[in-house]
Amino acid sequence: MSHQPTNLAGVDIRAEIDRLRRERNAVILAHYYQKPEIQDIADFVGDSLDLSRRAAETDADVIAFCGVRFMAETAKILSPQKTVILPDMDAGCSLEDSCPPEQFAAFRAQHPDHIALTYINCSAAVKALSDVIVTSSSAEKILSQIPPEQKIIFGPDRNLGGYLARKTGRDLLLWPGVCIVHEAFSETELMKLKAEYPGAPVAAHPECPAVILDHADYVGSTRGILDYAMAMPGDTLIVATEPHIIHQMEKALPDKHFIGAPGADGNCNCNICPYMALNTMEKLYVALRDLEPRIEIEEELRLKAKKSLDAMLSMASATVGQGDLGPVKVTGD
Ligand code: 13P
Ligand code: SF4
Repeated sequence: MSHQPTNLAGVDIRAEIDRLRRERNAVILAHYYQKPEIQDIADFVGDSLDLSRRAAETDADVIAFCGVRFMAETAKILSPQKTVILPDMDAGCSLEDSCPPEQFAAFRAQHPDHIALTYINCSAAVKALSDVIVTSSSAEKILSQIPPEQKIIFGPDRNLGGYLARKTGRDLLLWPGVCIVHEAFSETELMKLKAEYPGAPVAAHPECPAVILDHADYVGSTRGILDYAMAMPGDTLIVATEPHIIHQMEKALPDKHFIGAPGADGNCNCNICPYMALNTMEKLYVALRDLEPRIEIEEELRLKAKKSLDAMLSMASATVGQGDLGPVKVTGD
């Protein structure tokens, strides 16, 4: 159940967050899908890979994670000595929900000759059952380091997996999960918008279904989409991902025009992530004040999940294609 803080009348939330962050030696990490005011108060805003790297490297005592639960869990797995708080513990993810660990374990057992390459949008238990974790910005690079003859299960996002299979020609055995936010874009409405803004490119997240990606001029992670926006020569961009990312684009390029791709109702509001939206400034303040809700992960599970995350961090940073990297050995234990 999600709790709305009460009795905060008269509290200067912004000033209090600043005071508590200093007092507690806390770092505030935020994903691009957070509300603008949270992005603006964060010490660092990033995509899943950048946030994981930051969480692994920070020397703060407390990580206040403004994102969804699997992201905060990743921070705790990589930095167990830190206190990791999430403003709302109900901030889940439809991809995580689509992949219960028992069912994933049974699926793996049916395919013993496959390794599991797993999208970071999953529970710690599913990470523990996986060989290598990927994010949308690292998936292609990591896949390129796995020998071509190696059979691979890819879960839980069938859209990202399908995109990778089409792009690389690899045969991936897909888990049937989806992101409810990216599934909600409408091809018909997107075509109307493109007709309204002829020549405006479309940048899309690979969690979108193929019918949307087929119309995209650029496909990439949230940071990739931002980089594309910064470099594009034109002045209008159609953005097919969660619309809160547009905040960063408008800050950096106030003279350009960014339009959220529409859902079936013709606007982009149905593509707001309901889980990310649970975090508020008030809940962030209360979390910093009380150091709750706090992420705790049982040590045996943490160590198992850490193996697949460590594999991601090293493969995502590897120098590939220069003869200094042998075939990467991934084991299923
Ligand atoms: P990124 O890694 O691209 O930021 O994606 C996270 C996410 O949850 C997208 O829905
Ligand atoms: Fe999960 Fe989709 Fe929300 Fe990302 S946008 S956190 S994948 S539900």
